[in-house]
Amino acid sequence: MITIIGSINLDLIARTAQLPKPGETVSGSDFQTAPGGKGANQALAAARAGAEVRMVGAVGNDAFAAEALALLAQGGVDLARVRKADVATGIALITVETSGENVIVVVPGANGTVSKSDVEAAGLAGGHLLLQHEIPLETVRTALAAARASGTISILNIAPWRDEAADLLPLADIVIANETEFDLAAERLKLEGSDRDERMADFAGKTGRAVIVTLGAEGLRVATPQTRFTVAAYPVTPVDTTGAGDTFCGYLAAGLDMGLGLKDACNRAATAASLACLKQGAQPAIPFADELPV
Ligand code: RIB
Ligand code: NA
Repeated sequence: MITIIGSINLDLIARTAQLPKPGETVSGSDFQTAPGGKGANQALAAARAGAEVRMVGAVGNDAFAAEALALLAQGGVDLARVRKADVATGIALITVETSGENVIVVVPGANGTVSKSDVEAAGLAGGHLLLQHEIPLETVRTALAAARASGTISILNIAPWRDEAADLLPLADIVIANETEFDLAAERLKLEGSDRDERMADFAGKTGRAVIVTLGAEGLRVATPQTRFTVAAYPVTPVDTTGAGDTFCGYLAAGLDMGLGLKDACNRAATAASLACLKQGAQPAIPFADELPV
């Protein structure tokens, strides 16, 4: 069983040849809405990977809420602990250029109301807990403590990076970051070493935790207190990278929850993340387990 305590958004996605510079207006070629939010995306990825998943979070009391939850409901994710708050559903304004590069503005709305009482209502009791930085950090802290107290393995994706989050990293069993996020965390945590790899080892050694840094087309690097290894990416020509990181996190949690070792789970998650770059949008692009090459 995987519990996700995290964000649920509706993504408003515009496509353009080139991202506008500040002050510039460009013409878009296409507009689409799709369910998103890092928490919800990761929940759907874990469900499509074949795991049993429940989502804890909040949507608004508005027309966006149903659309934001539609694919999770279809994917069989347990939504009994998703509340309706008296504020707007979270949204993300996403602009994607032809190269696949994107910029995103997130307005948290209801995600900002996810609190300690939601963590309590989740009643963690084993399995895996997956968290991100799109709900209040105090809630993330409470959830990490509740995981520890209940024998639940916690996985923290430190996206998007927030400086006040640095002291949360050592509280998670597994940390997932991209290069920028890890480098910012390393600076805050004053990790030692002459390059990223050494700083990852320093983190794993000092905290006794595992850290995974995703490297885009280069795959990913893992450091645990016992070992360090690299997993190559599954090569693709990206159409839209939105949601690739979330697909990785969800598939990784699912792999571990279904009994795979860390390396095998990383391998499978990396392949799924590559496939998620082949379609537009976050949730619509998340592959099903039977779409993965074996
Ligand atoms: O990681 C991608 C997600 O980030 C999008 O779905 C968007 O909602 C933002 O939260
Ligand atoms: Na995508």
